[in-house]
Amino acid sequence: MDTSTQIPYLTRLNSLTRDMQFPPDFVWGAATSAYQIEGAWNEDGKGLSIWDTFSHHPGAIRDNQTGDIACDHYHRWQEDISLMKSIGLKAYRFSVAWPRIFPQGTGKLNPQGLDFYQRLVDGLLSADIEPFITLYHWDLPQSLQDQGGWPNRDTAKAFVQYADQVSRVLGDRVKYWITFNEPFIVAWLGYLIGEHAPGHKDRDEMLRAAHHLLLAHGWSVPILRQNAPHAQVGITLDFYPVTPASSHFADRYAAWLQDGYRNRWLLDPLVARGYPPEVIQFFNYPMDFIQPGDLEVIATPIDFMGMNYYSRQIIRARDRENEDFTPIPLPPPSGSEITEMGWEVYPQGLFEWLTRLTYEYRFPAIYVTENGAAYPDNPDDCRIEDTQRIHYLREHFAQAWRALQVGVPLKGYFVWSLMDNFEWSHGYTKRFGLIYVDFKTQERRMKRSAHWYRQVIASGKLD
Ligand code: FCB
Repeated sequence: MDTSTQIPYLTRLNSLTRDMQFPPDFVWGAATSAYQIEGAWNEDGKGLSIWDTFSHHPGAIRDNQTGDIACDHYHRWQEDISLMKSIGLKAYRFSVAWPRIFPQGTGKLNPQGLDFYQRLVDGLLSADIEPFITLYHWDLPQSLQDQGGWPNRDTAKAFVQYADQVSRVLGDRVKYWITFNEPFIVAWLGYLIGEHAPGHKDRDEMLRAAHHLLLAHGWSVPILRQNAPHAQVGITLDFYPVTPASSHFADRYAAWLQDGYRNRWLLDPLVARGYPPEVIQFFNYPMDFIQPGDLEVIATPIDFMGMNYYSRQIIRARDRENEDFTPIPLPPPSGSEITEMGWEVYPQGLFEWLTRLTYEYRFPAIYVTENGAAYPDNPDDCRIEDTQRIHYLREHFAQAWRALQVGVPLKGYFVWSLMDNFEWSHGYTKRFGLIYVDFKTQERRMKRSAHWYRQVIASGKLD
């Protein structure tokens, strides 16, 4: 007799040990971004972006590599859709390059740029793949940077025109819209640390940039809804669980500050909680860039939260004894698994954030818009047996499944990335793809992880 049908907890135990079934309408996808894959940096009327400028600056990128050609997706998009189809993807998240649409950021429209995305969207739809558009994945038109970039409030106004134009043309076919990808990284790495374009190092610029990114988001939400009937509109932030280095009060407070700085700085204003006051006070931030009404605009309700998840941070206070709570990040604990980026593999953090976004922040729907790992793939191994990547994804999918069991409204999951690509300041040295790309010949090859993912999608379960 099968006792599991009679004893509920045994049934549950069985499901835990046997397989993890996902809902039938779960959206399994993969993600990319324009600058990282498209190439064709100066074709068909495209204007320069800050990444074109930055990557051509000697020393900015590993081995002075650029995204001039990248995966040549601009010309090979049909082949790429066929590959998505062979994996069985239900959805594809990609970004639109603003300088293809408005080469100067505002003003004169470049219809050829829009045509490219129309072809891509139509191709996806006829392959039964749902397009998820990200409007901004870091490639600001250079001419807007020349006028001050994101620290200039006018850039937010220019973004609204751009969002309006793209959604007017694609709104009849595209249902899922993500305004921004990781605005924290845009502001922080771009305007404070200088590791990303435009390469500035200025705290005030960072704060202003972050505020204007949120403002541009808030202003464009109603426009996207108006232009795209039935649109689901969201934003993608990157989240990191922050673990205190010890239970000492100073470390715990430092971790809380870091959480405020790294996670809640952009998250809290989106849900009408304003900027975290303890962070403003601790770092003594001037907040004079907030104008009346801004916080209401930023808190315009969204349909879903997009979450990029890669790792966690361990934080200690700079000087416990003298109560200097400045957060200091520590390296991953010894013995922990790390990816080629040096990031600790910490799958339970995905569960922690999914539940936090649900029960503390009450988002009605959540998508994991990026998760994945770089490992050194061996191209001589003709099948590219990327077992570490499979292990990484499996562990993270399992946490997503756990989150579903406790009521998290997780609707879908996008693996970063569909294919190896230009990994920003690391150039082509970090491979995140399900598909291997030979950057000399542009040959694409599905890695073992792509085959594995195909089976997960087809069966809807992890076994
Ligand atoms: C995220 C970015 C994405 C990619 C991954 C590895 O922060 O959104 O473009 O670089 O990291």
